[in-house]
Amino acid sequence: HVKLYQEKFRPQFHFSPEAHWMNDPNGMVYYEGEYHLFYQYYPDSTVWGPMHWGHAVSPDMVKWEHLPIALYPDSLGYIFSGSAVVDWDNTAGFGTEDNPAMVAIFTYHDAAMEKAGKEDYQYQAIAFSLDKGRSWTKYDGNPVLPNQGIRDFRDPKVSWNAAAGKWIMTLAVADHISFYSSPDLKNWAFESDFGKELGAHGGVWECPDLFQLEVEGSNEEKWVLLVSINPGGPNGGSATQYFVGSFDGKQFVPDEEIPTTRWVDQGTDNYAGVTWSDVPAEDGRRLFLGWMSNWQYAQVVPTEAWRSAMTLPRELKLKQVGSEVVLINFPAKEVGNIVGSGRSFQPENGQIIELTDALVAIDLALDGTSFDGLSISLGNDAGEVVLIDFSDSVVSIDRSKSGLVGFEKGFAATHVGKLLSGTRPASIRIFVDTASLEIFINEGELVLTELVFPTQPYDKLTVGWQGGAVVKNVTLSKVEAIW
Ligand code: FRU
Repeated sequence: HVKLYQEKFRPQFHFSPEAHWMNDPNGMVYYEGEYHLFYQYYPDSTVWGPMHWGHAVSPDMVKWEHLPIALYPDSLGYIFSGSAVVDWDNTAGFGTEDNPAMVAIFTYHDAAMEKAGKEDYQYQAIAFSLDKGRSWTKYDGNPVLPNQGIRDFRDPKVSWNAAAGKWIMTLAVADHISFYSSPDLKNWAFESDFGKELGAHGGVWECPDLFQLEVEGSNEEKWVLLVSINPGGPNGGSATQYFVGSFDGKQFVPDEEIPTTRWVDQGTDNYAGVTWSDVPAEDGRRLFLGWMSNWQYAQVVPTEAWRSAMTLPRELKLKQVGSEVVLINFPAKEVGNIVGSGRSFQPENGQIIELTDALVAIDLALDGTSFDGLSISLGNDAGEVVLIDFSDSVVSIDRSKSGLVGFEKGFAATHVGKLLSGTRPASIRIFVDTASLEIFINEGELVLTELVFPTQPYDKLTVGWQGGAVVKNVTLSKVEAIW
């Protein structure tokens, strides 16, 4: 019998449920020293089924404690994705001023109605907790936002909008976003729609988020709208796009009239990611976590006791790169809690470097005029290898020989990411866990998260360069397991 968290392909420094099926992160909220993570969970199988909200807490988003299931399906339906807030001013009346309620806002999905051919089977509801998320009471006036005659009507992300003095709900509605507002989390009024003709539309829109960020190094604040779509991602299957613009409490207006489609992560395995609510203002960070999988193959990946993990927690920032304001994402500083001090050296061009630790953070310090001609490979004695190559401003990741790949026809593929024009080569950081790679270029200007299933750890790193790229330095740092 294999010990828990020692199973084949079990992530060692990423969150995964002890057993069974997980998808989207939900209800991420910070309260009294704890980062809460709820998640789409089916406790009876390793494939998707009637959804619950699983629950875990962490002091640092890195080490997690599992808690009992928070929300179970009931006669109104399965518990689909949504968000959670602390109701500091007791607007809903569930708590007191001394003990504000934590309120979860989620979608009910009525599978029986769906089966009966009805269209209005998704609607929004709330539940509250007065004991730091340990126990939950569903509101007896549910649903708080009935279906408006459209099948895909889900994944409410709610936040307090100080300027408007109201709660704002950002909701995914088939091929667009709808904004609703409320004084009390119970009564919701329609404000506006966004996006029917903008952005990527290769699939249904899901799991949005809306928040404000300062453009780094300026005093300018902008609004960011995250929208996951499935399918229609840049490398197939599901992925998360974003828009930068303004939001006046009613309407989101993108900065560009016809926004270029931009992706939070250009790899295949970062979906339905959203940010933590109620991170204290003194901290001020926008902290993000995604589901580290892809609907294209999530239900058939070769893991046995459980399926899926989350990405590392990441800090989101807005940064001016050349003429564009882009959303960058990079591991939150708390990830440093599990990264040891590294071994640094100057590599020779083409050198094969032995990796002594299976769990490792690889840092490359770059020089030169461009990324063009840089190539990195990770391999093992079984002949399994991942190739990361840069040509002009395109990075390609070939995982077709990365390990087990045959469980789904599209998994063995080469994926590409695009650097913004004029991006100077500065750094690459790669986190290697048992079954994933997270690749951060220039501290998150371009990010690719990719699942891989090597049958033994990659223990050889090769770095080579020609053309414009030069690798000045390599640092290898052991990463600690969290379980
Ligand atoms: C996204 C999603 C959500 C939905 C949930 C159901 O992955 O499809 O839109 O709420 O998963 O589990």
